[in-house]
Amino acid sequence: MSKTIRIGIIGSGGIARAHGSAYKSMPNVEIIAVADSIEGKAQAFIDQEQLPLAKAFDDHRRLLELDLDGVSICTPNFAHHETAVNALHAGKHVLVEKPMSVTLQQSIEMVEAAQASGKMLTVGFQPRYDPNMALIKEIVQSGKLGNVYFVETGGGRRRGMPTGTFIRKELAGAGAMADIGCYSLDMALNALGNPKPLTVSAYTSNHFGTNPKYHKEAASFDVEDFGVAMIRLEGDIVLNYKISWAMHMDTLGATMFLGSEGGLKVTSAGSGPWSGVWDGSVGSMTLYHDVMGQHVQSTIPIIEHRLDLFAEKVRDFVAAIRDSRPAPIPGEQILYNQAIIDGVLRSAASKREVTIELPNWK
Ligand SMILES: NC(=O)c1ccc[n+]([C@@H]2O[C@H](COP(=O)([O-])OP(=O)(O)OC[C@H]3O[C@@H](n4cnc5c(N)ncnc54)[C@H](O)[C@@H]3O)[C@@H](O)[C@H]2O)c1
Repeated sequence: MSKTIRIGIIGSGGIARAHGSAYKSMPNVEIIAVADSIEGKAQAFIDQEQLPLAKAFDDHRRLLELDLDGVSICTPNFAHHETAVNALHAGKHVLVEKPMSVTLQQSIEMVEAAQASGKMLTVGFQPRYDPNMALIKEIVQSGKLGNVYFVETGGGRRRGMPTGTFIRKELAGAGAMADIGCYSLDMALNALGNPKPLTVSAYTSNHFGTNPKYHKEAASFDVEDFGVAMIRLEGDIVLNYKISWAMHMDTLGATMFLGSEGGLKVTSAGSGPWSGVWDGSVGSMTLYHDVMGQHVQSTIPIIEHRLDLFAEKVRDFVAAIRDSRPAPIPGEQILYNQAIIDGVLRSAASKREVTIELPNWK
């Protein structure tokens, strides 16, 4: 029988439940501890989720004193850095929720902690487990599009503003650009093979979140609900990136990859005011190219699947621990995603293009 993998969960709010259910569904995996900085919340989670072996903690550092193989970090964004660095230094493998952190510097320190400890730092982008997302990457990487020089991506919810910890800068760090934007960025960067971001010129606003007509927590809303950015990537590629949590429009358009030999248009699935994000829902894929001088467009069939993408990411984390594999979605890769979000916030604040400085680890 294979070894039991011992897991801790840090942060026991909404998304921790999805982590908990995924771990509970796996054989030879035990949730040994749960920590939440709000007194009594971890114990309530343990009781509700029926985790008989789990101990409750208010301070994540006490949880990290236990003999654990890995931890899921499910805190608001601001605490990802501290908890991940402490967990890695304590010798635990880490699955941290998206977005990776609040600033680029924090993400750099998280990756350095993983490198120093030899433990895995993987970031929770479950759309990577959608076979359609994998197909997008396969098409872009196949060379069928020729040299890809322009990508446009982003999600546009008509009216889908979260509440609570997501709308306060001190807890979330950023708004729509990080919360749902990081998915769009991951889709584009991963398909392109993770080129380095070089510069960002961005604009952000929050006309909806700060208006009591549109948001019931308008008084505490101090992040962006809309943003647009032009990002230069290495390889002379330009990325146009736009996101809204709320707008007077049905969509911000499709995602597109323009190449010298072909173009790929991708639309997201779903409908309603909260749809239009790249969280793992591909609606259609169309390839534009020429055949004998004729303009052709081919529909790429969507791969039907019944995968629970969220459970897949948690299962892969456990499998990577068990098999001593590298991180499935390594912090080193997601650093570029965070670098862009960091650049967006700096550029929007200064109303100027900013450059992105990345460490040279190799
Ligand atoms: N992958 C996804 O589909 C997905 C979906 C929703 C949220 N998320 C991400 O998950 C994270 C949490 O989101 P949520 O909706 O669960 O938030 P939440 O506010 O419901 O829960 C966060 C919990 O963390 C606790 N906490 C805060 N600081 C802590 C600390 N230092 N140590 C221990 N506990 C701490 C809070 O008390 C709270 O109970 C966010 O980063 C969010 O972006 C991911």
